[in-house]
Amino acid sequence: MNPIRIAVIPGDGVGKEVVPEAIRVVEAALANQAEIAWTHFPWGADYYFEHGRMMPEDAIDTLRAFDSIFLGAIGHPQVADHITLNGLLLPIRRAFDQYANVRPAVLYKGVPSPLANPGPIDMIVVRENTEGEYAQVGGFVHSGFPAEVAVQAGVFTRHGIERIIRFAFDLARKRNGKKRLTSVTKSNAQGYGLVLWDRVFASVAADYPDISTEELLVDAAAMNFVRRPASFDVVVASNLFGDILSDISAIVTGSIGLAASANLDPERRFPSMFEPVHGSAPDIAGKGIVNPMAQILSAAMMLEHLGHPAAAARIDTAVRRVLADAKTRTPDLGGSSRTTEVTEAVLKAL
Ligand code: NAI
Ligand code: MG
Repeated sequence: MNPIRIAVIPGDGVGKEVVPEAIRVVEAALANQAEIAWTHFPWGADYYFEHGRMMPEDAIDTLRAFDSIFLGAIGHPQVADHITLNGLLLPIRRAFDQYANVRPAVLYKGVPSPLANPGPIDMIVVRENTEGEYAQVGGFVHSGFPAEVAVQAGVFTRHGIERIIRFAFDLARKRNGKKRLTSVTKSNAQGYGLVLWDRVFASVAADYPDISTEELLVDAAAMNFVRRPASFDVVVASNLFGDILSDISAIVTGSIGLAASANLDPERRFPSMFEPVHGSAPDIAGKGIVNPMAQILSAAMMLEHLGHPAAAARIDTAVRRVLADAKTRTPDLGGSSRTTEVTEAVLKAL
């Protein structure tokens, strides 16, 4: 059998620390059921310092040949974040039409939530990943002068809105959850793009009578992610709102160090990309204390996507077992374990 081909981009900061840990877990979970060929690409801030760009000009063509992309994190205190994001992450998401950014948030047994009464949180934020507020349409006028003007437009297409909403409805249907989809906008203030979003949501909802729906404005959604997080099942939102809300869903389930994500091309024309929700965490990088669970759980999402649900489930069970037993935890979860100790515990649980 041909090996599965994975392009690995550890990236910057803690990305370089958690990616090797997750690869060890994947190898152990697959045992000899499948072979993975991991090809490492040293792209990111270090590459930028040497070459003046985040990745080579032909990077997209290089990546196209792979079954999936496994990313750590991108970002460095000495490089402006709009350069890192627009130089690597966003071009990959767009070139491979990874329009569904799937971000589960589960309050695992034994993990403390910062909320007093969180309830059983088990939700997924589905974020539109190719357009919206991240479209980079706009410009500067009178750049550098006192009368400087910046215009930043959002791009909302019927095609883009409809496919992400359908994806979210299908996910709500497939999941063994509350069969509920919440759509988040700010159509009271943004009277074009998000009004179109609301209209498309209503028309697509008619095709899913078995899924109950809810529509929230993003400010109320932010409040309700804190007030009643256990009431959510699947949540669908634009690029920016989905990004912000998934940091809230991550922290109410204990730590962003547990938050995994998938950037999916649901039609499977191109490689999908799997990465934790968190960034390069320069404040803790190099200390050996970053929580590897988000990267490990992202790897499980990758295995699921690649047709190895049993191995993915084994990783999920092992992670749950380690978290349930408070012995081995990194400092973000109130423990004093090191990154590698957490990986060892997961390997042992496997
Ligand atoms: P961040 O997610 O890197 O860190 C936020 C806070 O959470 C920090 O206190 C950090 O120590 C903590 N944290 C994050 N991941 C953790 C983990 N696995 N274990 C324990 N603690 C963890 O976000 P921040 O600080 O806003 O951004 C840092 C850099 O990362 C910036 O350059 C930013 O642009 C970039 N970034 C990149 C992303 C990506 O590659 N997809 C996503 C978010 C930010
Ligand atoms: Mg984010």
